Amino acid sequence: MASTVLVTGGTGYIGSHIAVALAAAGHVPVLLDDFSNSEHAVVDRVRELAGVAVTCVEGDVRDTALLRRVFHDHPVTAVIHCAGLKAVGESEARPLAYYDVNVNGSLRLAEVMGEAGVNRLVFSSSATVYGQPDVLPVDEQAALRPHSVYGRTKRQTEEFLRDLARANPNWHIAILRYFNPAGAHPSARIGEAPRGRPNNLVPLMCRIAAGEYPELSIHGSDWPTPDGTGIRDYIHVQDLAEGHVAALAWLAQHAGARTINLGLGRGYSVLEVIAAFEKACGRVLAKAFGPRRPGDVACYYADATRAEREMGWRATRALDAICADAWRWQQAGGRYR
Ligand SMILES: NC(=O)c1ccc[n+]([C@@H]2O[C@H](COP(=O)([O-])OP(=O)(O)OC[C@H]3O[C@@H](n4cnc5c(N)ncnc54)[C@H](O)[C@@H]3O)[C@@H](O)[C@H]2O)c1
Repeated sequence: MASTVLVTGGTGYIGSHIAVALAAAGHVPVLLDDFSNSEHAVVDRVRELAGVAVTCVEGDVRDTALLRRVFHDHPVTAVIHCAGLKAVGESEARPLAYYDVNVNGSLRLAEVMGEAGVNRLVFSSSATVYGQPDVLPVDEQAALRPHSVYGRTKRQTEEFLRDLARANPNWHIAILRYFNPAGAHPSARIGEAPRGRPNNLVPLMCRIAAGEYPELSIHGSDWPTPDGTGIRDYIHVQDLAEGHVAALAWLAQHAGARTINLGLGRGYSVLEVIAAFEKACGRVLAKAFGPRRPGDVACYYADATRAEREMGWRATRALDAICADAWRWQQAGGRYR
């Protein structure tokens, strides 16, 4: 059934794709963002792709007065909570900022949702909560041993959401653990637009292929994997966005808190991703092996069967589509400004 859905962090990389997917499914997205890591121009792009009026509220998810106003002004029945800080390296240098925005921001949001009687919540968690897994593929029961402050803010938020659902059976909460989102909307109107040097492999390759950076540094050639480079599960951002629409439909029927992996369910090595990207952009990237990055792990990919079994969703776009769409977005500028 169509509903009004608040998307916090709705002008960010993932939130903007979710907003468009919500509109495509007949929902009305309301975006909330403080634009600390996004551009105002995203809003018009989302409106253009959504084809419906999309309201965007500018403000901080920790601002309870603002949140109360949003729930008062809009008939919101569910929230998709993407707002947060996400840079693993920065989280080590600024732990209090990360706990404040990610944990405290989620607490404030849940508090005001409770007051407003809105009890359906989809939370953007991350596969980084697993750390180095003992068994592959990683399922939702795996131990949680995050290696970074960022990962621990996600684990803490997950924990309090589970406690909340235990304490009050009215809550319907989906905790979605994303693997490695990449790619862009096929229209090339929205995509990942990191400020400064990208931290993630695909956007970095886009900018190297566009001549903005000279060379790709591959972090480690001696990992215990078939080609010596790290293996990750890359999920197309469009699949990820559609996973949120599926989670909302599922939540309507299910109380409690449920944790669900969103991944493709198979891993690709860094060298495989580079090869796929070079094919998509028709160029060979300059690259060199560097040392391993502290905190990195050799290999992880999702057991994504719970999402399919319970929500009827699975990722359908493979690595070639991720690379083709990311490159199309880069060729269209790869930025909003
Ligand atoms: N991109 C990934 O690789 C990845 C992987 C796993 C989980 N996640 C999680 O998914 C969510 C979205 O990630 P993304 O890649 O779209 O990041 P993003 O930075 O593009 O989007 C986050 C948005 O939140 C906004 N924001 C930050 N602090 C805020 C605050 N205090 N109040 C209101 N808005 C605020 C930012 O301006 C930004 O638009 C995050 O919670 C992130 O931790 C991302």
